[in-house]
Amino acid sequence: MNCIKMAIVGAGLWGEAHASIYNEHPLAQPVAVCDLNKERADAFAAKFGIGQVYTDYREMLKTCDCDAVAVVTPDFLHADIAIACAEAGKDMIIEKPLATTRDDVMRMVDALAKHRVRAMVDMHNRWNPAFNTAKQLVESGGYGIPTNAYFRLNDNLWVATDMLKWCAQSSILWFLGSHSLDTSNWIIGDYPVEVYSVKSEGKLKSLGIDTVDTYMSTYKYKNGAVLQMENSWVTPNGNTNVNDFKFYLLCTDGSFNVNGSSHDLLQVTDNQRVITADILVKNYVFDRCRGFAYESIRSFIDKLAAGEEFHVSINECANVSLALLATMESADTGRPVTIEHI
Ligand SMILES: NC(=O)c1ccc[n+]([C@@H]2O[C@H](COP(=O)([O-])OP(=O)(O)OC[C@H]3O[C@@H](n4cnc5c(N)ncnc54)[C@H](O)[C@@H]3O)[C@@H](O)[C@H]2O)c1
Repeated sequence: MNCIKMAIVGAGLWGEAHASIYNEHPLAQPVAVCDLNKERADAFAAKFGIGQVYTDYREMLKTCDCDAVAVVTPDFLHADIAIACAEAGKDMIIEKPLATTRDDVMRMVDALAKHRVRAMVDMHNRWNPAFNTAKQLVESGGYGIPTNAYFRLNDNLWVATDMLKWCAQSSILWFLGSHSLDTSNWIIGDYPVEVYSVKSEGKLKSLGIDTVDTYMSTYKYKNGAVLQMENSWVTPNGNTNVNDFKFYLLCTDGSFNVNGSSHDLLQVTDNQRVITADILVKNYVFDRCRGFAYESIRSFIDKLAAGEEFHVSINECANVSLALLATMESADTGRPVTIEHI
């Protein structure tokens, strides 16, 4: 079977995760990179052995010899690139969230269907061993029906202050809430129909970053289940893990508890602090990519090569974006909001 020639748009932090796994996968090869910043694109190409470098994705789509594209630009810049890829007949993996406006969601869903290209959104917590196992156990039927859940997915402050240059143009709901809502929907096995959300703000604004600190949101599902979801960008930098990551699910005949951030498998201590080492999300074992953040991208290539359905559908991710828009509307208006679905 021929290698899938991958082009990557966005030579940033997460673009590197994509390039690493395309280099390692026997059925893929990174052949092109595009970034508005030429210097960054050149350095990226040199690091990953990529031959074709672009600063304009439209030019890239016209001239580059690629089979599929990874859209790895900031949260609010996925739509136009994905639509141009669809128009060029390229299959694609799009970083989460699918899109951050209703108009973008609808335009993307239409373009992907119209041009009959294949696309997956990188909702990688479905490959997280704890959530994947919980999903299998819930589906086994042995624990009854999900009735209520709690999901906390927070970032240490430095992600907003130091790591991301564009968080004021996004939201913790887009950056982490997209993961926690997608994972909850997937495990509960249904969509939320109504949301009531309250936000707190001030910390990031005091640091000159104009975005909300925390959303506390309650979702009512069609099947009657209730989810409480906490997403914050201001947890203390002293946390041992960049994420504060907890999940609890109560079913009619059992319950599930996930602690995704504070495992005891490997803790590293220096003279200042304790660090919970990342051995789950994205790490290397003898130079091989390991961790669920790589597994989702690996699965995209596997499924694309095999012509099989992806583990994450575009409609599921469109509905996550629509639910997060309703969440922001609720937090802005102080009222419960009915969630639209496609
Ligand atoms: N799956 C995950 O868990 C995960 C983790 C981190 C980031 N992400 C997602 O990946 C995406 C990128 O995040 P990041 O941390 O790599 O951001 P980043 O800022 O490090 O990189 C983004 C890059 O995109 C480039 N860019 C912006 N507009 C462009 C355009 N029109 N054409 C070409 N290049 C353009 C920027 O110059 C920048 O180099 C975001 O959507 C983010 O939410 C996903």
